[in-house]
This record gives sequence, C-alpha cells and structure tokens, in this order.
Amino acid sequence: MNIVIVGAGAIGLLFYQQLYTQIKKQAQRQLALKARKQGPAHFSFTHFQGLSYQIPINYADQQSIANADVILICVKSYQIDQALNQLMPYLPKNVKIILCHNGMGVLTKQTLLDLSAQQPLLTLLTTHGSKKTSACHIIHTGLGFCDLGLLQGKLSSEDKNQLIAEFANSQLNVHWQNNISEKQWLKLAINCVINPLTAINNINNGELYSVKYQQTIKTLIQEFISVAASQGQNMVFEDVYALVMTVAEKTALNCSSMRSDVIKQQPTEINYINGYLVTLADKANINVPENKKLCQQINQLTKLY
Ligand code: PAF
Repeated sequence: MNIVIVGAGAIGLLFYQQLYTQIKKQAQRQLALKARKQGPAHFSFTHFQGLSYQIPINYADQQSIANADVILICVKSYQIDQALNQLMPYLPKNVKIILCHNGMGVLTKQTLLDLSAQQPLLTLLTTHGSKKTSACHIIHTGLGFCDLGLLQGKLSSEDKNQLIAEFANSQLNVHWQNNISEKQWLKLAINCVINPLTAINNINNGELYSVKYQQTIKTLIQEFISVAASQGQNMVFEDVYALVMTVAEKTALNCSSMRSDVIKQQPTEINYINGYLVTLADKANINVPENKKLCQQINQLTKLY
C-alpha cells in the first residue's frame, strides 16, 4: 500500500516513523508526508525508552497523492475540513481516507456529501503520547493504542485486512472496531474532562487525581452522559468516570494537547470537544453549565494571546 500522511505535527510524525520502519523494507511501496511547507530532510525520533534516531522525510507531491492507497490526515480538528477539501480534486478513486484528530463534528455536511458514496472514510482514535519539541524532533512519550473503524462508505473485508496488516508490525497497537462511534464518544468524554481542566489549571494530566477536581470531573461526566444519551449512546457513569481517570493515570506526566496549545498560544480544539457537546445539548434542551463554563474559560484564555 502507498500511504500519504497529511500533517507534520507530533502525531503525523509518530505515524510516519512507525510506518517508515515497515515500508522502507519494500522497495515498490511509498510513504510520503504532506506538510504545509517542505521542511527539514530528516527528523529526529526519540523512542519512549530513550533511544533516538534520524528518519529521512519523503515529502508528498501530486503524484504521491494520485498513487495513494491510504491518506492518513493528522491535523487539528479545525483544519480537517479544509485539508480534505484541498485534497478532493486529486483523490484517486476508492482511496481510503483516515482521519486522526481529537473532537467530533469536524466535517461539514457539504464535505461529507462531496465524498463519493463509495469512498471509504475511516477514523483512527489514538491514546499514544507524542511530543514535538522542535520542527524536527518528536518524542514518543507514551505507548498507547489506536482504534480504527469505518465512518462512511464501503470497505471490502480484503481491504480491511490489508489495512490492519499495514499497522500490525508497528508499535501503534491498532484495533479494528465495528462500532467506532461508541469509541468516538468515549474519547470525547476523556477529552471533555482532561483537556480543558489541564489547560485552565496548567497541570499535567495526573494531577486531575487531586480531590479538588473530583466534583467538577463528576459534573462534567454527568452532563456528558445526558448528551450522549440524546444521541443514542447509552453510557454508565461509573464506567466513563473509571475510563477518564485511568487515562489520566496512564498519561499522568503528559501535557495534554489543549494545555500545549495554550502554552504555545495556538488555537485550541475546544469547539470540537466541549463546544461540540454544548451545541448538541442546546439542540436537545439539556443543561450543561459546567461544559459551557469551561468553553468560556478556554476562549477567555485564548483571547489573551
Ligand atoms: O488531547 C490529548 O492530550 C489526549 O487526547 C489525552 C488523552 C487527553 C491525553 O493527554
């Protein structure tokens, strides 16, 4: 399979490194990186156990996109729609498009309609920790896993198996999910709690274990459960709470993506995380004051840039 990765951020480069190790062994296959602008010829990768090495970058051109079997889009949620629309005129028929991002509601109705009904559109949810320390260095800070599933279009079982095999020898730990929308909602719960609270309080994820955050976390999850139920996703409070706290524990020393955005004075993904929940809640007449408060606080922080 020829693979193009769109986005040279921490996650895009982590996938590039993981797939590069597989693909370089097979001369007839191509891995390419589509970045906003052509950058360094190599990047340095630090393994989660500390070893560092250099990975050469093959930048994508129109030909790489035309020859792609898979396009993996790893950009921020607010950039996904535009990235996909820019690729649309060059997309080969039946290319598998995989979106990898935080949050939900990233594609406009028009973009979804513009994709051919057959075009396999997938999502990949990841819990891996990856940190970009400079334009040409990433650290794999935490070994996580990925859930992969089909959002729309058709995927033959042969294509599905080929796709899973593609990731099988990497450390990405990719699991196929028939019910990917349930996994998206669970990831949304994690992001709704960990991202804004760590950004507002400027803390590592693990500090959310402190007693002082427990009431807010519980209220956020209760609100989340009501909105999820209005969308046909029935979740149990104790399960969601346990999941959120487990992720906070496993990523205890990580700086969440929203906190990193605030530190780097970049736009955050709040509109696609708590903001997404608030929009659905308003439509369904559900009260979500704690989620609204966090949206306001994050927007206030970003206004100060
Ligand atoms: O956005 C993030 O940082 C991650 O999704 C997560 C799971 C909250 C861990 O930091």
